[in-house]
Amino acid sequence: MRRDFHSKVYQRPHMSQAGTVLIVEDSPIIRRLIRDQVKKLGYEAREAENGAEALVEMDKSLPDCVILDLMMPVMSGPELLEKMQASSVLRDVPVIVVTALSDMDKIVYCIDHGAVDYMQKPFRAQIFRARLNSCIERKKLHDREMELQRQLVDHNALLKERVDKQVREITGAQMSTIFAMCKLAESRDEDTGNHIDRTREICYLLAKRLLEKPNPAEPPPPEDLPENIRTAAPLHDIGKVAISDTLLQKPAKLTPEEFETMKTHTTAGYALLADVDRLHPGNAFIRMGKEIALNHHEKWDGTGYPNSLSGYDIPLSARIMALADVYDALTHERCYKPAMLHEEAMRIILDGRGRHFDPYLVDLFVELERDIIDLTKQMDAGTEKKHSARRETPGEF
Ligand SMILES: [Fe+2]
Repeated sequence: MRRDFHSKVYQRPHMSQAGTVLIVEDSPIIRRLIRDQVKKLGYEAREAENGAEALVEMDKSLPDCVILDLMMPVMSGPELLEKMQASSVLRDVPVIVVTALSDMDKIVYCIDHGAVDYMQKPFRAQIFRARLNSCIERKKLHDREMELQRQLVDHNALLKERVDKQVREITGAQMSTIFAMCKLAESRDEDTGNHIDRTREICYLLAKRLLEKPNPAEPPPPEDLPENIRTAAPLHDIGKVAISDTLLQKPAKLTPEEFETMKTHTTAGYALLADVDRLHPGNAFIRMGKEIALNHHEKWDGTGYPNSLSGYDIPLSARIMALADVYDALTHERCYKPAMLHEEAMRIILDGRGRHFDPYLVDLFVELERDIIDLTKQMDAGTEKKHSARRETPGEF
């Protein structure tokens, strides 16, 4: 015997089946009929006369299932389906299409556009119950899966935050040690008065400008170049810890032999940082520190040391460092020379364009001239100058 909506076959579902059903149907009679049966199944029923009203209803809160008529004024069932598919929020709400038509083409169209099931009017009770229950169970499983995924993402984010914090703490401790060594090397060497701090900030400015305006002649720099060079720049003269005080503080010009020894601060710095890199691999700034320590006295035309590299064979970080290092040395007082005026230092920098320095970086340096002057003034303010014996080193800044 055929059972319809008035059949006693409907039973109140288990509490876990409770959910909300949005009935989108223009006929008040059919709407009421469906609503009564939805309620008999223990679900909450909400109603809309057409697709446009359904959108308003779903904007208030999402149902667990939509029972959708096809032929309606204002906005038809297929039109509503298209809009739901286009919405990242509504796409996951399951839709059961109902139609009085035996129009399989329309049903296929709706299935292709996101409907999960269909029923033909008049409904058979068992089919209505089975399909609605199945649809809502599937929606609940989907919601549960989404919730678990959200929890997993939150958990992973929390885990990553904890790991990052630990890495930051370890890296911070390592950097404090390394930075202290750099300061020690600097303090033994000369009256440089915050040379390390100024040069790292000039490197940072240049690297940031290079990111905004990359050199077309070489691959674009990595996004983290400014931060990494700011951290790595203080390592440039770390190799001076291996140079004796006698040599570092010699108040006279170095002999050629002594200068050869002085040049080894590049390779000594590289070797020291290579050891750190081996023990703690994966630190981008240590890798960059190695490049800078080894290559910051190389020159664009190949007349530098220790390896007489030229042009783009010199790592970018070291080319940036060379400019910052020389400019800062020129514009600050040493016991063997007064501080040079900015304009005079710029003439020397420009004269070294394409000889000592990367020409593209010199052009950026000129563009940043005002910023560099301001930065230097700001950092010099309040810096107490020290005076100590200092020798002039050939080719050394
Ligand atoms: Fe150096």
